[in-house]
This record gives sequence, structure tokens and C-alpha cells, in this order.
Amino acid sequence: QDYDEVSSYVGVYFSETYHKLLFAPTRDRPFVLGLPTGSSPIGVYRKLVEFHEAGEVSFKHVVTFNMDEYVGLPRVLIIFSAGFSDHPESYHTFMCTQLFDHIDILKENIHMLDGNALDLDAECRRYEATIAKFGGIELFLGGIGPDGHIAFNEPASSLTSRTRVKTLAYETIIANARFFEGDISKVPKLALTVGVATIMDAREVCIIITGAHKSIALAKCIEEGVNHLWTVSAIQMHPKGLIVCDEDSTLEL
Ligand code: GLP
Repeated sequence: QDYDEVSSYVGVYFSETYHKLLFAPTRDRPFVLGLPTGSSPIGVYRKLVEFHEAGEVSFKHVVTFNMDEYVGLPRVLIIFSAGFSDHPESYHTFMCTQLFDHIDILKENIHMLDGNALDLDAECRRYEATIAKFGGIELFLGGIGPDGHIAFNEPASSLTSRTRVKTLAYETIIANARFFEGDISKVPKLALTVGVATIMDAREVCIIITGAHKSIALAKCIEEGVNHLWTVSAIQMHPKGLIVCDEDSTLEL
């Protein structure tokens, strides 16, 4: 029906999938999860924190890979501790505030792209290699932009793309300006992002879509053909793709 119900559904779906896989008798490796940022997953993260606090879910055997990160957001110098902290709008900060600081995940199991790496292409290659080292992602959660982009795979991204540097579309910059005091000039113009193929390689893909402003994207995604202009439509080709959406987003179906 609405955002809350979508969040509960996905939260429960995650813990059921996780428990089914992790506690299978022959299992000897961690559960590998792909994660998004944005407002779409916040409710799901809240649910996961709740489950964790209630002692129902532990993240000790979970390895995570985040979808994307802005390029070049300056780190902030903390004068008194003489150290640096991440920019408040970086996806690193977002993930710590919304999820990682509240659960028992091991620090070394968290993987995020470094948007301040000196060699961005090498950083992207390293990321793909690390995902492969863990045997691939088992469940990729994602959200979409109103133009149907998934992670930062902007319209016209190749559907076979892998982790790379991407120039943000003007629509994305406008949509994300709300996090930068509404000032378009403060929004980074480049990002690192997993590719469409990186996401589609996951054993399961679960996409959250809520709100009337995403109703055209949802219609393009499921009622029209697979199209690189609406990159989320690649989910049609996935053997285990799931879209969890609210009533408002179905307006155009
Ligand atoms: C950004 C992120 C996407 C996210 C999208 C939608 O562009 N890179 O991964 O899906 O925002 O964000 P929201 O969920 O806030 O609508």
C-alpha cells in the first residue's frame, strides 16, 4: 500500500532469504549482500536494525557491497581529534548513519567504492575483483531514480556495463540537489557505480519503487521492452528479479 508496507516486506524478505541461505546444512561462506543508498531503502534499514535489536538477525556473517559513491566529495578535517571524517553527504556517511553503526557487521566485511581514490579506474577494477573473490552477490537490493536509473547507471548506460566512472545526468543532479542545500553547483558531477551487468549478475535482485514520481519509470520498466534508456528494465531478463512497489507508483500501469 505505501512506503512503510514496502519497507516491512523487503525487510522480512531479506531476513528470510538470509536465514534460508546462511543456515543451509552445506553452507560454509558468508552471505553477500548488495546495498543501495537514497530515501528508498531507509525504511528497510530501519526494519533490519529493529530485527537486529530484537536479536532476530545478526550481521556477523554478512558481507556487503554498496552500489555507488560520488567522486571527489572532500573529507572533513576534525580539528580536535586531528583526523578526517567522510563528507556528510557521502554514501559512506549515509550507510554508517542509516545501518552500519547500528548492527553487528564486521568492519572488514563492508565494501564501498572510494570516490577519492587516486586512480578511479583501478578502484573500479578492484571492486569487481573483490565481488568475484566473494563468489558474487547473492541478493542485490536497489532503488531507482525517476528516470529509471539503477545505482548511477544513467539513461543510455550499456546494459552490459560493469563498475566504472559515470557522469551524472542533469536530472539526477537536480534530484539529488536536495541533499546539498538545494544547490546544484554543490552536487558532484561524477560518480563511481556498479554496472547494470554487475547488478544483474547477482543471484537475486530486489528493487524498491515508491511514489507517484516514479510511476512512469515503473511502467517503462515492466510494461515496455528492455531498454538502455530505462536501465532498471534490465531486470526483465533476470531469472530472480523482484520489484516491490507501493500503490502510488503503479499510477501509470
Ligand atoms: C541516487 C542513487 C540511486 C538511488 C536513487 C533514488 O541516484 N545513486 O541508487 O536509487 O538516487 O533515490 P531515492 O531512493 O532517494 O529516490
